[in-house]
Amino acid sequence: MNSTLITDEELNSINQALLNRYGLDFTDYELSSFKRRVVRIMHKNNFENILQLWRKLLYDAEFASYFKDEISVGLTEMFRNPQVWSYLRDSYFSKFKYNDSISIWHAGCSTGEEYYSMCILLNELNKLNQSELLVTDLSDKFIKLTQKGEYDLDLLEKYKGNYKLYNTYGFFNLYYTKNETTGTFKEVIKPKTEFKQHNLVSERIYKKFDIIFCRNVMIYFNDSLKMKVLEMFYENLKPNGVLVIGHFDALPQNFNIYFDYLSPEFKIFKKINQP
Ligand SMILES: C[S@@+](CC[C@H](N)C(=O)[O-])C[C@H]1O[C@@H](n2cnc3c(N)ncnc32)[C@H](O)[C@@H]1O
Repeated sequence: MNSTLITDEELNSINQALLNRYGLDFTDYELSSFKRRVVRIMHKNNFENILQLWRKLLYDAEFASYFKDEISVGLTEMFRNPQVWSYLRDSYFSKFKYNDSISIWHAGCSTGEEYYSMCILLNELNKLNQSELLVTDLSDKFIKLTQKGEYDLDLLEKYKGNYKLYNTYGFFNLYYTKNETTGTFKEVIKPKTEFKQHNLVSERIYKKFDIIFCRNVMIYFNDSLKMKVLEMFYENLKPNGVLVIGHFDALPQNFNIYFDYLSPEFKIFKKINQP
């Protein structure tokens, strides 16, 4: 089945089922990529038509949870776009004095690679003790994997390549304990952290942060949903707070109600203090 064969009406029936039965709201997800992902799920599970998928979603909560993970699954890696991390280390984190508190929210953390990159950055700047992190994702499975912090050794080898571009002189292998085929990040490099399943579309967080990471998450959202999420981030940032988005994330034109560019090159934004 090709994604153009699913009609908007059929997709709407899937969305209504998910919303009514499980409170899962994908109605403002970007239509064409949402359709492509639905088709991929149908192929993988040998569904012949949308009605079969609709029935399965309605009557099988476990499948609905799998569907949610498949829709939102995304690629991630440690020190993704290494220059962004170097910029943050050299130009942003250096402004915090040794006793200033630093609060960070990773929204859409996936399987935790972004979180462990931050742990290493804070550790190398000697800022672990003054930092407090909130790490969230729509998928509870991803949150559990993030907490565990265990990755295949060949993946870690790949991540080491990125790390070396970020810090030529560091020793990446010191940060994890080697098991047979995997490596687990050490507890000592974790600052105080809350791990939480959270839906950016429908749930608020009642805390203020110095910096919010939401990289490669809004790619799934249409412009009106992006604006809703940007407004929420605006509310969640302290004065002069900073938002980091992904290299391929595009913001709607009127994002500048809430944010100014801090670094256009690295897609880093500064909260406007009075909208
Ligand atoms: C491509 S991954 C990005 C991971 C990481 N931020 C990075 O850039 O490497 C996108 C993540 O966004 C999460 N996500 C999608 N929709 C979400 C929502 N409504 N609320 C919270 N997280 C969401 C997915 O579960 C997935 O883990």
